[in-house]
Amino acid sequence: MNTKVLSSGIRYSTLPESYIRPESERPRLSEVSECENVPVIDLGSHNRIQVVQQIGDACKCYGFFQVINHGVPLGIAKEMGEVAYEFFKLPVEEKMKLYSDDPSRTMRLSTSFNMNKETVHNWRDYLRLHCYPLDKYVPEWPSNPHTFKEIVTKYCKEVRELGFRIQEHISESLGLEKDYMKNVLGEQGQHMAVNYYPACPEPELTYGLPGHTDPNALTILLQDQNVAGLQVLKDGKWLAVNPYPDAFVINIGDQFQALSNGIYKSVWHRAVVNVDKPRLSVASFLCPYDEALISPAKPLTENGTGAIYRGYTYAEYYKKFWSRDLVDKEHCLELFKNN
Ligand code: OGA
Ligand code: NI
Repeated sequence: MNTKVLSSGIRYSTLPESYIRPESERPRLSEVSECENVPVIDLGSHNRIQVVQQIGDACKCYGFFQVINHGVPLGIAKEMGEVAYEFFKLPVEEKMKLYSDDPSRTMRLSTSFNMNKETVHNWRDYLRLHCYPLDKYVPEWPSNPHTFKEIVTKYCKEVRELGFRIQEHISESLGLEKDYMKNVLGEQGQHMAVNYYPACPEPELTYGLPGHTDPNALTILLQDQNVAGLQVLKDGKWLAVNPYPDAFVINIGDQFQALSNGIYKSVWHRAVVNVDKPRLSVASFLCPYDEALISPAKPLTENGTGAIYRGYTYAEYYKKFWSRDLVDKEHCLELFKNN
């Protein structure tokens, strides 16, 4: 039987051929820097001006930061991680009922990134859910584990609020009205990728996710507290984002890069895998509503540069993104530049 998913209970002693990257594209793990961390920002601080400043600096320099005292109850984050692990531990026959390679499906279990477009596969299984509005999508979510829907619903609500708070900070840090981004993005969509990266026999030869940028507005990542794997590109070098206790990792997606007229960066990042331990992450993506018109904020185009990107709808962007392979070397936003 072709089980398709990696989390099938089969242990591989060598990496199957279709996962092996050509020599020039391998992760070169020994060259990854461990000595610098992306900023950890205390959202519980009463010094709002300082927090806004820290977020602005992080968005410019790293496109990434971590937040602590973020207001999401720690118990809810912990339960989310646990139920995600339980899901991937289910028997493969049970999981395969949810399997699909079709990116247009609003609920699916899949593997790698885009099986129909890519030439080399990635050492990842993922469950992809739409999460807003909840009453529309929860009915199609997995009902096994039996606590899944309840826990994930609670988690999604909290993470959405956290995302909105951060969007306010981001607007202010660009010198815009607090509600600027929220207003442009409209009634935001929310998607989730529950990523499961099984232990991998040869992590030097492959990726969990190869370098990519996120096509949405803002990503809120719950990392495995015990196993590292996320790396971000800074000044041409890969930097490990090691788990920080009780923190979320936040990153700017392509839409905030466009809206900020390129001042904030949707940075390349990747997930690498480990030889002895599986790793789990839960990525929540806040997305503009489909018809949202994305174009650089006017006040940010008046310093002589003009608008770097043309206006487009999010629907147009998203379609373009999924028509490509993740390892296309060019940033998808390059295709939307004014010339
Ligand atoms: C993603 C992503 C990183 C990780 O899902 O877009 O970048 O650490 N995940 O799993
Ligand atoms: Ni990503």
